[in-house]
Amino acid sequence: MSIFEDITAIQNIIYIVASILFISGIKMLGKEDTAVKGNFLSAFAMFIAVLVTIVFIVDPVILLGGILLGAIIGSTIALKVKMTSIPEMVALFNGFGGLATFLIAWSEYNSIPDNYFQYLLVMVTIYIGGVTFTGSLIAYGKLSEKLKVAKTSIVTKIFTTIFYGSILFLIFSILQPLLPALGFNFFTVLLAITLLGGIGFVLPIGGGDMPVVISLLNSFSGIAAAFAGLLLLNNVLIVAGSLVGASGLILTVIMAKAMNRSINNILFVGYASASKASSSEEQGEVSPINVADAFLILESASSVLIIPGYGMAVAQAQHVVRELGELLEENGTEVKYGIHPVAGRMPGHMNVLLAEANVPYDVLAEPDDVNPIMDSVDVAVVIGANDVVNPSATEEPGSPIYGMPIVEVHNAKTVFVLKRSMSSGFAGVQNPLFFKQNTRMLFGDAKESIGGLVSEFKD
Ligand code: TAP
Repeated sequence: MSIFEDITAIQNIIYIVASILFISGIKMLGKEDTAVKGNFLSAFAMFIAVLVTIVFIVDPVILLGGILLGAIIGSTIALKVKMTSIPEMVALFNGFGGLATFLIAWSEYNSIPDNYFQYLLVMVTIYIGGVTFTGSLIAYGKLSEKLKVAKTSIVTKIFTTIFYGSILFLIFSILQPLLPALGFNFFTVLLAITLLGGIGFVLPIGGGDMPVVISLLNSFSGIAAAFAGLLLLNNVLIVAGSLVGASGLILTVIMAKAMNRSINNILFVGYASASKASSSEEQGEVSPINVADAFLILESASSVLIIPGYGMAVAQAQHVVRELGELLEENGTEVKYGIHPVAGRMPGHMNVLLAEANVPYDVLAEPDDVNPIMDSVDVAVVIGANDVVNPSATEEPGSPIYGMPIVEVHNAKTVFVLKRSMSSGFAGVQNPLFFKQNTRMLFGDAKESIGGLVSEFKD
């Protein structure tokens, strides 16, 4: 038989081509100028993989029905979602990936041949898929603030216990074929306890840590998909699942590192409880400034560094910020943006907002690029950022954020901090930057303050 008559071989060759395109597309996402093409390439590769699956494997009518239904629901949600709600949407979509693998593994349970490896795969896939599904639903609820359950509540404690119980059940289920004397059918209970365990996994974790948890759940959904690929002997599912699993895990580690926290601390300890200590200490007098005076200083500055943070996202100030940047440049000032990797509440949060406002990529700089030249910056304008510019991270060994890399704006000649009050940021710690001699506090909503500066420049 020639290779062209062997349908499985043709299908696998096309799957390998699709996998190469996936990997190339993802590599292209690493640079701004190739990112859009990379996204299309990966989507095209996925299209080929789905097309081949339709043509060669399953009953096309059922598959097309599923695709149509999924496409309608998915696009309706994606079209309606606001930019600030993308992390919640990602959480939901991860969850459905987990549910799909949970159902695939369940359906394979009855057709498992006498093969322990296949059995093991079914059990582990059911577990990871199930925990990912319900865990993601809880993450969605917490991020969208629809679900508010205290870490210390009895409900949380019950579900956390169920989560640890579910791990025991998984172990028993895996061991059962080896220990027939156990005599109990763990499978049905495993299905239920896995789903409840996912709730218990995420329920005790604070809302602010959800982006890291979502990245971890994203990784889980990839791992579950790779296992499902092993079960179905589907190469493209193995490759795509492994890519999602590995990249989700790398992102989780990068985020934890940029927050100077361990994964263990995020999942099992929580930020707030570790960080109350220095949150309310008074550190002296602050020097407020008004829009008119801030304008005069900016007008005569030859270099300005803008550091956006979570507050810029809350105020939706990105468009006026871009306008201010352009007006400064027209005035002969060199303008750069200092982007911290965990500014905001999701990876790339600031990059996405600034891209939405058409701020060019080449003016965005990382802390490592701007910190060495900070003392030559005339004005550092901190817009709704707090933790990511907190000098305690470098100066105060006892601080909960000590060791976290920051944008060292306190070394600039003048610092403007735009925020509404003296309240702390995500980590709940006081910020000595506000009390430094070269700092001026411009109190108010960031959009209004920047809007005021823009009007001054235009007058
Ligand atoms: P934060 O430290 O959270 O501070 C944000 C500041 O914005 C607040 O102090 C708040 O002060 C101000 N603000 C809020 N609304 C505002 C408005 N409308 N106008 C002006 N200011 C406003 O933000 P950050 O510096 O971006 O740091 C991010 C924090 O989140 C880090 O601790 C990071 O570890 C954590 N985190 C990040 C991620 C990712 S992936 N980005 C994920 C989880 C956690 P006022 O209330 O006084 O205005």
